[in-house]
Amino acid sequence: MAHKPVKIEPPEGKLGVLIPGMGAVATTFMAGVEAVRRGLALPIGSLTQMGTIRLGKRTEKRAPLIKDFVPLAGLNDLVFAGWDVFPDNAYEAAVKAGVLESRLLEDVRGVLDQIRPMPAAFDRKFVKNLHGRNLKKAKTKMELAEQIMDDIRQFKRRTGVDRMVMVWCGSTEAFMRPAPVHASLAAFEKGLRQNHPQIAPSMIYAYAALTLGIPFANGAPNLTVDAPALLELARRKHLPVCGKDFKTGQTLIKTIIAPGLKARLIGLRGWFSTNILGNRDGEVLDDPASFRTKEESKLSALEYILQPDLYPQLYRDLYHKVRINYYPPRGDNKEGWDNLDIFGWLGYPMQIKIDFLCRDSILAAPIVLDLVLFLDLAQRCPEMARKGIQEWLSFYFKSPMCAPSLYPEHDLFIQLMKLKNTLRHLRGEEMITHLGLEYYD
Ligand SMILES: NC(=O)c1ccc[n+]([C@@H]2O[C@H](COP(=O)([O-])OP(=O)(O)OC[C@H]3O[C@@H](n4cnc5c(N)ncnc54)[C@H](O)[C@@H]3O)[C@@H](O)[C@H]2O)c1
Repeated sequence: MAHKPVKIEPPEGKLGVLIPGMGAVATTFMAGVEAVRRGLALPIGSLTQMGTIRLGKRTEKRAPLIKDFVPLAGLNDLVFAGWDVFPDNAYEAAVKAGVLESRLLEDVRGVLDQIRPMPAAFDRKFVKNLHGRNLKKAKTKMELAEQIMDDIRQFKRRTGVDRMVMVWCGSTEAFMRPAPVHASLAAFEKGLRQNHPQIAPSMIYAYAALTLGIPFANGAPNLTVDAPALLELARRKHLPVCGKDFKTGQTLIKTIIAPGLKARLIGLRGWFSTNILGNRDGEVLDDPASFRTKEESKLSALEYILQPDLYPQLYRDLYHKVRINYYPPRGDNKEGWDNLDIFGWLGYPMQIKIDFLCRDSILAAPIVLDLVLFLDLAQRCPEMARKGIQEWLSFYFKSPMCAPSLYPEHDLFIQLMKLKNTLRHLRGEEMITHLGLEYYD
């Protein structure tokens, strides 16, 4: 049933985009936005820029662009800032990341040169394989949070942005389970003041952002804003949050293939996934503690999609293995191999082999753009903002955040339906159910 559109403030003025971690993903995103602004390239892979949304009956033939359907900030209104443990500006960092060609980077150099990373809140206990020197100094983690808040206030004064969002594009931190210090905001703030060892840098950035009323998205698999203390802060302040771990590369393919196999009730005995990659992300993931965080994130998708409890004969005995190997010659152009041992009618075995010559940051950059614009939409919409977790953005994540009583939805096509139905809901349009019996009356 159609209803009245939901209240959304218009996207007036500039939108500040705050990014801890100015590495391959962040710089590919920033350079890409600038290239699109100048008409040098297309924002391929971005739902907000190129996607359409069907409205009403199929016979109505209404399918506007999403960016014309909901009030999103324009690309010309985005202003970037970031932090990194290395002092390279966005141009230098992009050259080192080696994702984009030098011709394109030269074309957008003017803008990238201006984006210099602010000193990072960093702790090598959480990311062993990094040795940068562009670091904040402070006696306590609370002081670090305050310094980040000062950075943000100064950025706002300097640029005159009206609203901001923060997207964590920093390295994957060491694996951590929720601990008592994460259980409530009071415990967390006490932990910040007492330098509690289980408060990771990404949490300090998230705390600083939320305290200043800024929505937060987590692009890495770290616990970060999943910590109940930070969720409490987000809910209290009516701030949208989402995460975690951008859905790119092998997991993207997994969440495309697995729903198809399950739809046709094809069994799976084994799924072996291995990757070689040679970028800084790969170097960080060479440390077992960081890899563990990534592994947990990558493994969970299949389990939820296949529902072995409902289909024990098909999926109960699935052996699922994920490996990531650091192999410098490949740089950002990773290669992911998948071997699927499947079985069909009467149990007859078959195999599928996938060899994905993938460019991770090319797949991640449009995700960052969409998250920036959708999080900003959510912050201008009181009905969405007060919910805290934005489950409708699961589409973009390997380990989607959801309410504690729910299991996460991993199926890419259900996620897309959820996202688009959320947009229809916001604009007072009918949900699309695909029932379609009325066409035959
Ligand atoms: N590339 C992808 O497709 C993809 C997909 C899913 C998730 N991710 C995650 O996104 C993140 C970024 O990926 P990337 O390929 O750009 O990696 P990257 O190594 O190129 O960039 C990460 C940057 O974060 C910086 N950093 C680390 N800790 C920091 C801190 N505390 N404060 C500020 N900066 C810090 C590092 O110095 C580095 O420059 C990683 O966590 C990665 O696992 C990437």
